[in-house]
Amino acid sequence: MAHVNVFDTTLRDGEQSAGVNLDRLEKLEIAKQLERLGVDIMEAGFPASSQGEFESVREIANTVRSVSVTGLARAHKKDIDIAWEALKGGAEPRLHVFLATSAIHMTHKLKKTPDEVVETAVEAVSYAKEKFPHVQWSAEDASRTDIDFLVHIIEKVIDAGASVINLPDTVGYSTPDEYGRMFREVRERVPNIDQAILSAHCHDDLGMAVSNSIAAIENGVRQIEGTINGIGERAGNAALEEIGVALEIRKDRYDYQTNLVLKEIKRTSDLVSRMTGMMVPGNKAVVGRNAFAHESGIHQDGMLKDSSTYEIITPAMVGIDSNRMVMGKHSGRHAFKQKAESMGYELTDEKLKEAFESFKNLTAKKKEVTDDDLFAILTDTQTEDKDQPKYELKAFQVQYGSINRPTATVLLTKPDGEEVEKANTGDGSVEAIYNTLDDLIDADVHLQDYQLSSIGRGRDALAEVHVQLTVDDVKASGRGSAQDVLEASAHAFLNAVNRTLYRKNTEPVQKQVHV
Ligand code: KIV
Ligand code: ZN
Repeated sequence: MAHVNVFDTTLRDGEQSAGVNLDRLEKLEIAKQLERLGVDIMEAGFPASSQGEFESVREIANTVRSVSVTGLARAHKKDIDIAWEALKGGAEPRLHVFLATSAIHMTHKLKKTPDEVVETAVEAVSYAKEKFPHVQWSAEDASRTDIDFLVHIIEKVIDAGASVINLPDTVGYSTPDEYGRMFREVRERVPNIDQAILSAHCHDDLGMAVSNSIAAIENGVRQIEGTINGIGERAGNAALEEIGVALEIRKDRYDYQTNLVLKEIKRTSDLVSRMTGMMVPGNKAVVGRNAFAHESGIHQDGMLKDSSTYEIITPAMVGIDSNRMVMGKHSGRHAFKQKAESMGYELTDEKLKEAFESFKNLTAKKKEVTDDDLFAILTDTQTEDKDQPKYELKAFQVQYGSINRPTATVLLTKPDGEEVEKANTGDGSVEAIYNTLDDLIDADVHLQDYQLSSIGRGRDALAEVHVQLTVDDVKASGRGSAQDVLEASAHAFLNAVNRTLYRKNTEPVQKQVHV
């Protein structure tokens, strides 16, 4: 059975999804979960794009030990130097350097001749190779590149030291047969191709990212790139959980294996969805809420007789049945710590204290505390930066009735510690809270989007709210969870405002760069 490396780019291409803005601690939590999921390579970000991104990539590289951490760089020495500073402490530092090769991109974007593009790519790879043990080179827009030119430039960059050649379908234009053929030709025509691993990177503009990735594997690719839940630029990237499960379920057809721990899929999907605010559609393959629901009478009857009638993937395979009632109000700190450790969380004494307190508060309101609840508590505790000056909700009250205009009274502390209180009205309860918060915050805040969901199921499930705001014209996303919808709404609003405060305090290395 041939092995296929899994290259996760949730924290780089995934984070390029519209409206997604992860902070340092959120990225770190996702990185740790990706390690549990068993990815081989993790693209932690684009270190030269901002100071915050640089620090976050460095922290991940220095934390995650069993995964090779990589960062993206344009074919510029400065980008490569910055990436090295961010990645050098990692277990197996790896650079991902890219340059566009299609006529469209070379002419309109790069304004370079094909010879200049070859020279720039070779120079960048040789330079990177002086520092990094592993250098991956990507031919951006490879699937729309002239195949003769592609063959030529690949030979040159392998000679310069690239050990992975990634050929992206950058705009999601390819079909499985075309994409597979491109790899077949490259393997047949590039003389030194056996010195490199071929990699596929597919976007989902035509809904073919996963099929294209599988076609690539069948044509000799031994590294597959994608994101969790398929998030990413425009229509997103290939969904790694779908590729991993497809290879497993259809091993009669595909003789390839990955290191993915399939049981970690659901939890990874939930975490990425919560942190990014990108909800997973109910009918999404492998991780959607309805992916294992059998609605029609005929299907239910078949399932009762024998589950193999309509079920090809068991929920247990992707970690769905692990949501048991695990702890209650009598569980002590020691049991809580042990449970957290068994879920892969190493908490400092301080974080353990905070998480245990949240757990105890929850047991006072909720009879059954499930794995999902604990997971939410643990990730929220781990991603909260207590030292950061911020707006903090102290108390609030909402008066609502079908006749009167809803009124909210809010008490909060400002980043400088001052306590302030105000009341205001709105057309609904949430709007009343948001209008009041807006009055209390020293910035011009506008709500752009609001989404409400639940963590787990049942009447007493935790509420989770995601918002998109503009704060003094800067876009910001925020997330908040609580047992009560209104409290979760207030937390999400303040979370978004607090993120802009943090970003203001981190000076950019260069202006934000878009790939
Ligand atoms: O889609 C793409 O081409 C990319 C490259 C930067 C690899 O994300
Ligand atoms: Zn991409």
